Amino acid sequence: MLDSDFVRAQFPAFAEPSLEGQAFFENAGGSYTCQPVIDRLERYYRQRKVQPYGPYAASRLAGEEMDEARRRMAALLGVETGELSFGPSTTQNTYVLAQAFRQFMQPGEAVIVTNQDHEANSGPWRRLAEAGIEVREWRIDPETGHLDPEDLAELLDEKVRLVCFPHCSNIVAEINPVAEITAMAHAAGAFTCVDGVSYAPHGFPDVGALGADIYLFSAYKTYGPHQGLMVVRRALAEVLPNQAHFFNADVLYKRFIPAGPDHAQVAACAGMADYIETLAAHHGCAPGAVHDLMRAQEERLLQPLLDALKGRNRVRLIGPAEAARRAPTLALALGRPAAPVAAALAEQGIMAGGGHFYAVRPLRALGLDPEEGVLRLSFTHYTSEAEVTKLIEALDAVL
Ligand SMILES: Cc1ncc(COP(=O)(O)O)c(C=O)c1O
Repeated sequence: MLDSDFVRAQFPAFAEPSLEGQAFFENAGGSYTCQPVIDRLERYYRQRKVQPYGPYAASRLAGEEMDEARRRMAALLGVETGELSFGPSTTQNTYVLAQAFRQFMQPGEAVIVTNQDHEANSGPWRRLAEAGIEVREWRIDPETGHLDPEDLAELLDEKVRLVCFPHCSNIVAEINPVAEITAMAHAAGAFTCVDGVSYAPHGFPDVGALGADIYLFSAYKTYGPHQGLMVVRRALAEVLPNQAHFFNADVLYKRFIPAGPDHAQVAACAGMADYIETLAAHHGCAPGAVHDLMRAQEERLLQPLLDALKGRNRVRLIGPAEAARRAPTLALALGRPAAPVAAALAEQGIMAGGGHFYAVRPLRALGLDPEEGVLRLSFTHYTSEAEVTKLIEALDAVL
């Protein structure tokens, strides 16, 4: 079982006087930062804030730390070092990838998008229609938000080159069977682009084992700095047109990062690997097993919250009511604007948000008004049982 006290000791926010007494439930928006990331950021700015990859010591160390971040994060994700790149954000990364696909695909070929995705893995691909590419929509069940692989089977044919979908949505939160969906796409001759932004904070997945051709997530939600991590598997990265300077085309990890990266933040991403390894050492397991430890902890805390919500018939919980099937990101449709309810929760010492969370298409597909929005309550493995109890009590007061 996860040692909650040990985990929380790795996050300065839990010892920060200005945050005392406030339980954080907007983790799906951005997580607290772990100590090793903060230490590395500070060290970079104090000691290594020079152009990296030069011959002098500070520069060499800066470059080495950036390479270390890529090497260790790639290893955690089960992919080759060259297959992982760092960009400014996931939204930016998908825009660049969509530009590459626009050049790669022929008019008349097709992409599949979902109406379960955050706009970042939806809008850029839908714009391929402007280049004569057919855009097919894989639709959720309007009651449950579920994305059914059987419906995807209907949409796949030899024209489809790419299937874009989320590992889990930031509203529905049901964990989609990435390996199964990817196998279906591959059998039809299509690549897959998986938005892992809402999943990765709950345990880094083995991207190699999932088989996805593209896997994206955002480090500012996985206890790190504000970076977008992008895996593009070699077979795809080599055939997609280069989007970087022409002389960088031969360096796999540079091909879809046209701009200069934020050196300090890239370097600090090694702190996420430090954190996972510290947890592994403390719990006597391999780094790859930390994922399951985190998930088990989340499920244990999530089920009582789901059960408490079941009894409220004026509240519509989006997505599954069983903890094992979902991330601990709960979107509640209240039949009234959600933002004032989030404000009322803030009065009770609960940090949460209300709105559409850039999931306008999913909300509309569920028959909800994006202006009214949903109340979103999201946590991670570092949340304590006491904080969940406090949330349940606060919900009793405001709902
Ligand atoms: C599921 C999901 N995908 C993509 C994004 C966009 O990520 P970024 O802010 O790094 O562009 C978000 C951000 O909230 C998200 O929740």
